[in-house]
Amino acid sequence: MKFRTLSFIFAAIAVISCGNPKGKKADGNEAAEYFVEVKDSKGIVARNIDFAEKQLTYLLDACEEGDTIRIPSTFQADTVTFVPKDDWVSGFFSGTLWYMYELTGDEKWAEHARKHTENLSELQWLTWHHDVGFMVYDSYGNGRRLKNIEAYDTVLVNTAKSLSTRFRKNAGVIQSWSTERGWQSKRGWTCPVIIDNMMNLELLFKASEISGDPTFRNIAISHTDKTYENHYRDDFSTYHVVDYDLETGKVLGKCTAQGYADDSAWARGQAWSIYGFTVAYRFTGDEKYLQRAKDVEHFIFNDENMPEDLVPYWDFDAPNIPDEPKDVSSAAIIASALYELYWFTKDENYRAEADKIIESLSTPAYRAELGKNGGFLLMHSVGSIPHGSQIDVPLSYADYYFLEALIRKARIDNGEAPVK
Ligand code: GLY
Repeated sequence: MKFRTLSFIFAAIAVISCGNPKGKKADGNEAAEYFVEVKDSKGIVARNIDFAEKQLTYLLDACEEGDTIRIPSTFQADTVTFVPKDDWVSGFFSGTLWYMYELTGDEKWAEHARKHTENLSELQWLTWHHDVGFMVYDSYGNGRRLKNIEAYDTVLVNTAKSLSTRFRKNAGVIQSWSTERGWQSKRGWTCPVIIDNMMNLELLFKASEISGDPTFRNIAISHTDKTYENHYRDDFSTYHVVDYDLETGKVLGKCTAQGYADDSAWARGQAWSIYGFTVAYRFTGDEKYLQRAKDVEHFIFNDENMPEDLVPYWDFDAPNIPDEPKDVSSAAIIASALYELYWFTKDENYRAEADKIIESLSTPAYRAELGKNGGFLLMHSVGSIPHGSQIDVPLSYADYYFLEALIRKARIDNGEAPVK
């Protein structure tokens, strides 16, 4: 209440003095406490917001042509690529729109966000892969947080129930991929768990808070503990895939699907790893999870192949570095995680590293020219090189985590907790 009142006063002053208070709602809207106050109107956050407000309009136009709602994934061969609802990336664009609302306070973004989010309602029943955590939390989870829409609670809890059907009791993990369809069926796995799966746990933790049912949280903790035990090498780089025996829980193998080699450090895997353990600490206060996030940071930033601009190559062990594609999505995810890790530890190095990444991503080397790049914000990400898919392209999740990192940076610069 205090913050809201103060915000209103500051907003009113800003309206009088500047006419356009960045990040404020002059109407004193109840949800205003979640908006980000960007104090430095010439700073890097404000400049990126100005760019995003214009650039995303191009992408929105492509997604809302006619009466249809389409879900953008990337931009290749001069065309925006759209995906079906059950694709793992389907929630990121809704989330991007919610973040634009959070960054600007402009209801226009909330209206678009709501439309794109509610287009995904059937995902609450999806059980054939684990990615519903990403898909539904980034869309409905952000919508619930910012607009307090009660019906979204039900969707989040239903999704948690669906995700929980993939929990394998004896192994103590959520099975990431099913083994009876797609390219995953050709790898001989029994119960494959990928490091990315850590990102689906935020939804489970939140669903327990909403419903009061500890089942989801217990599953999330069990999965985190197994990942902690089995996914890491001595240097705290992570394997991509760990395969479990469904009866005994024994580890059957450790390998990669999207990295350069089974023993290599796939960049986005390292990003999911630092982000996932930081979130697990947020919900549990378990110091060993915090320590793991710190150990992962140490690996990432001390690897000899981490470039000076802190935007990783797609795999830290790719054979032809520096002649390998960068993966901007990894950089954006790592930056966002580091701001939260900084908040928990107050280690200024983490904040400086995140700031450096944001600076790099805001240069023409990585940020698109206005009106180009299909309306995506950032260039130069990698989907999956082993699958020959989405190499050196914009990706919806790079933009999503970039905006999230900007929100977190702005809050930390204001002395506030980065995650609300
Ligand atoms: N979860 C899939 C990826 O990171 O590419």
